[in-house]
Amino acid sequence: MEPVKIGIIGAGNISNSYLRGAARSKLIKVKAIADIRTEAAQAKAKAFGVEAVTVDELLSDPEIELAVNLTLPMVHADVSHQIISAGKHVYSEKPLTATFAEAGLVMEAARAKNLRVGGAPDTFLGAAHQAARAVIDAGRIGKPVGGAVTFMTRSSAHRYANPSFFIFKQGGGPMLDMGAYYLTQLINLLGPIKRVSAISTNGIPQREVVQGPLTGAVIDVEVPTFYNGVLEFLGGANVAISMSWEVHRHRRSHMEIYGTEGSLVIPDPNFFGGTPQIAEAGGDWENVDISAYPFGTPNRVMDDGRSEADYRMIGVVDMAMAIRHSRPHRANGDMAMHVLEALEGFEQSSVEGQHVAITTPCARPAVVPQGADEEVFDA
Ligand SMILES: NC(=O)c1ccc[n+]([C@@H]2O[C@H](COP(=O)([O-])OP(=O)(O)OC[C@H]3O[C@@H](n4cnc5c(N)ncnc54)[C@H](O)[C@@H]3O)[C@@H](O)[C@H]2O)c1
Repeated sequence: MEPVKIGIIGAGNISNSYLRGAARSKLIKVKAIADIRTEAAQAKAKAFGVEAVTVDELLSDPEIELAVNLTLPMVHADVSHQIISAGKHVYSEKPLTATFAEAGLVMEAARAKNLRVGGAPDTFLGAAHQAARAVIDAGRIGKPVGGAVTFMTRSSAHRYANPSFFIFKQGGGPMLDMGAYYLTQLINLLGPIKRVSAISTNGIPQREVVQGPLTGAVIDVEVPTFYNGVLEFLGGANVAISMSWEVHRHRRSHMEIYGTEGSLVIPDPNFFGGTPQIAEAGGDWENVDISAYPFGTPNRVMDDGRSEADYRMIGVVDMAMAIRHSRPHRANGDMAMHVLEALEGFEQSSVEGQHVAITTPCARPAVVPQGADEEVFDA
């Protein structure tokens, strides 16, 4: 079968991961990349052996069935609408759109044209996260009752030579920027969310850029930077969530789920691999074997020297194969919208001082079958 032809709009930082992922794939092929900064698209095109085109050229190319939206959160909705208007399926980086209201309009536009919407993150498809789900589904920790998830860092984005301003602006902040990894993996483990609540604060209203050509520029922080919240799941469990750009160091793990028969610790949901650990009633911690699942072997050396499994793009591969085989895709728009509703719900809860019910439906995504490689999706 011919690979499904893909276009990428947005040739910034994260496009490297997607282009690396596509280069490994036999099932999809990146036909073209576009960016409003022509030189950015050209640089990525040269590095990865794909074609650089304008956004209009990409949108009018009849061979491209699916376009991946890797632009910034504040223009996700606009670019996704352009893709849908051009008659193509869209897979968007997170958050699906900068606001929940915009997401509804994108989903509606796609439905009207019988097109699909996919949404990052796809990290829950990684070996560590699928193996953790198998532990829960096998009943090894009994009925999940509670949990805790944590992403807390002293965001150093203002220290980059090319600072990521957007993480301090509307559509950014620790909850909208990082929360989707945690909530998506929680939905994979526990199912849909019933309601959320939180208190949020902003400790540092301005940050000064300390490195590179923009040194001295002041970034006004427009969003809360410290959230403590709680999610209640339809299945009954409740999970504490802490998300912050304000923490120099801490000692909490990324994700823990507590069941009636044991506890499960899950590695960083920003990546695909790592080793979950389980402690069954009265027992010590034991490593969970992830080797039967694809997408867990470290394949990327990070700036700090550590190795991580980064298979971004497999959500797109699954979506492309789902289109071919007329089945649902896993990293889908309904789940991304459910996640966005909850992420926005934390802020609403903090402002209004009450719980916020989550209204959008969302099914637990299908598990990833055991196997060696992306062929697991070709069914
Ligand atoms: N950087 C990361 O590590 C990372 C990780 C995971 C997800 N993401 C997500 O990926 C998205 C992109 O992040 P990034 O870090 O690559 O940002 P970036 O600023 O490096 O790149 C964004 C690119 O989009 C282009 N662009 C903006 N508006 C456009 C438009 N209307 N049409 C065409 N191109 C347009 C910009 O010129 C820029 O090249 C964000 O949603 C972010 O949340 C980033």
